[in-house]
Amino acid sequence: MRVLLTGGAGYIGSHTALALLQAGREVVVLDNLCNSSAESLARVARIAGRAPVFVEGDVRDRDVLGSLFAEHLVDAVLHFAGLKSVGESLAQPLRYHDNNVQGSQVLLEAMAQASVFNFVFSSSATVYGEQAQMPVSEACSVGHAPNPYGRSKLMVEDMLRELPASDPRWRIAILRSFNPAGAHESGLIGEDPNGIPSNLLPYVAQVAIGKLPELAVFGGDYPTTDGTSVRDYIHVLDLAEGHLRALDALQTRTGTHVWNLGTGRGCSVLDMVRAFEAASGRTVPYRIAPRRFGDMATCYADPTKAERELGWRARRGLPDMTRDAWRWQQMNPNGYR
Ligand code: NAD
Ligand code: UFG
Repeated sequence: MRVLLTGGAGYIGSHTALALLQAGREVVVLDNLCNSSAESLARVARIAGRAPVFVEGDVRDRDVLGSLFAEHLVDAVLHFAGLKSVGESLAQPLRYHDNNVQGSQVLLEAMAQASVFNFVFSSSATVYGEQAQMPVSEACSVGHAPNPYGRSKLMVEDMLRELPASDPRWRIAILRSFNPAGAHESGLIGEDPNGIPSNLLPYVAQVAIGKLPELAVFGGDYPTTDGTSVRDYIHVLDLAEGHLRALDALQTRTGTHVWNLGTGRGCSVLDMVRAFEAASGRTVPYRIAPRRFGDMATCYADPTKAERELGWRARRGLPDMTRDAWRWQQMNPNGYR
């Protein structure tokens, strides 16, 4: 089986490219490198012992897609390409809609033209927005995503729910990923944010190594056990495996299916700080700061549908995520640069 990974040079994409190669699949990566480096794919090749095919290009470029599908006989597409910063999406909503929504539409059109109908979409827990009940299951209502990033994911999900009625050959998985964390255990690939990280774990790692002075904990007065906000952090290798299982599940399913990829366990900001201190042996200085605009108190998954239908569950815990993130940080203090 030959799989196209859009955004395959990025954080989740590179770990998934590796998992696919290790499972014996052929991998083609399409990435415009707007938030990544081709070095990630060189490292993937080093670990796997063989390289993915790399096409540098934009998912919105019909000509690039046309020649890619003509040249490589692709059986399925995993779609990771997109912009993912909540704050940036508030400042540049049109850029987010153009890249995430228009990019998905152009890709789906090119797939239909090439008669490729197996599609796995990297959606996000963001689509759940603020929910009264935790954990969130796929049956929860969506439609109140609190920012343009989340709404761009919802628009693509809507498009994907409509497609099978137009052509029954479509087989579509929508994967709502919770908070990816950690790195490959080799320390060769990991998360390489541009500039100052906005996500918690890379920020904590840079404090632990001394690149940043302290962590600002956004909010100490949430209605949670220790007052700090709670998320469902999932090891990026577990996420990668979830994508492979979804791909397998599409062999026997038509239509559009939604699965949460989370652990089902909530972890507060201070739980994460303590876990990181234990894994690194370093102190992570922090101060309680005001809440961050748009954050919610608590969000964690009900992962039972994926367990039941995909035979998948997250196997790694917080000690694995923090240990692997720390190894990656130490081995690559400047990321891939
Ligand atoms: P990332 O930025 O590391 O990877 C995205 C990749 O897509 C990058 O390599 C980037 O260069 C590429 N890209 C962006 N726009 C492109 C375009 N128009 N054409 C071609 N390539 C393009 O991000 P990630 O964390 O690996 O996220 C991958 C996907 O998973 C995204 O769609 C994101 O929304 C989703 N997701 C991420 C998180 C998270 O917290 N990291 C959580 C849930 C879902
Ligand atoms: N946090 C801090 N200090 C920081 C950074 C984060 O206290 O410097 C807190 C946040 O307030 C939040 C938690 O740590 O409560 C996690 O924040 P992240 O920014 O790491 O993650 P989010 O839950 O805000 O969002 C992330 C991605 C989204 C994705 C979502 C899926 O940024 O793209 O997870 O659940 F959609």
